[in-house]
Order: sequence, then C-alpha cells, then structure tokens
Amino acid sequence: MSNKIYNWHFVASDIQSLGFGNFPIIELAIAEKTICLALYKETLFAFQAICPHAGAKMVNGYLDAQGNAVCPLHKYKFTLKIGYNVTGEGYNMRTYPIEIRDDGIFVGFLS
Ligand code: FES
Repeated sequence: MSNKIYNWHFVASDIQSLGFGNFPIIELAIAEKTICLALYKETLFAFQAICPHAGAKMVNGYLDAQGNAVCPLHKYKFTLKIGYNVTGEGYNMRTYPIEIRDDGIFVGFLS
C-alpha cells in the first residue's frame, strides 16, 4: 500500500477533449509543470515531458507495439505505468497517477 500524498489537478473533462487526434502522445502544462499524456488501449498515462537520459522532448517520440514510450533521440524505452527503462540503460522516467472521476480527469503530483 502506498502512503504517498498527491495534489490532484484537473486535466480535462474527458479523453476526447484532450485532442490526441492521430498522435499517441501529447504535451500539456498543468500547475506550472509540463507533462506528457499518452493514450494506449484506451487508457491514459501521464509522465515527464523531458527524457531522463539527455532531455529530448518525449512528445516527439512514439509508443511501440507493447505500449512503451520511446524517446525520439536515442530510442530508449520506458513503460507507461511506472516509467521503467525496459531497454536497460538505467534511466527511469517519472510517471504520474491519473484518476478518471465523475467531474473529469485528474493527474496527481506528489506534494
Ligand atoms: S535523450 Fe532520450 S534516450 Fe537519449
């Protein structure tokens, strides 16, 4: 059981209004933080906008067939759920919890 305390921030009223279009990853600013959102198999994930390796913008990357976020620069791969660096270079990506509530989609930042 996690004892982390999050501050929850409104993201959007629903997934459709986020404007993914044909893009699997989008970037947006929430509460003075820029993050990425990815939509994979109708599930929404949130993670850091800048690659933990050398700072590439993850919004310019893509999702592979297994649903990993792939950095556009050196192609390191990270799981969407916990940011684990599945290609083994040792750089894990920060992820943020998402909650779908009756009044919208919220992302949690550690307080
Ligand atoms: S900057 Fe992302 S893998 Fe190198």
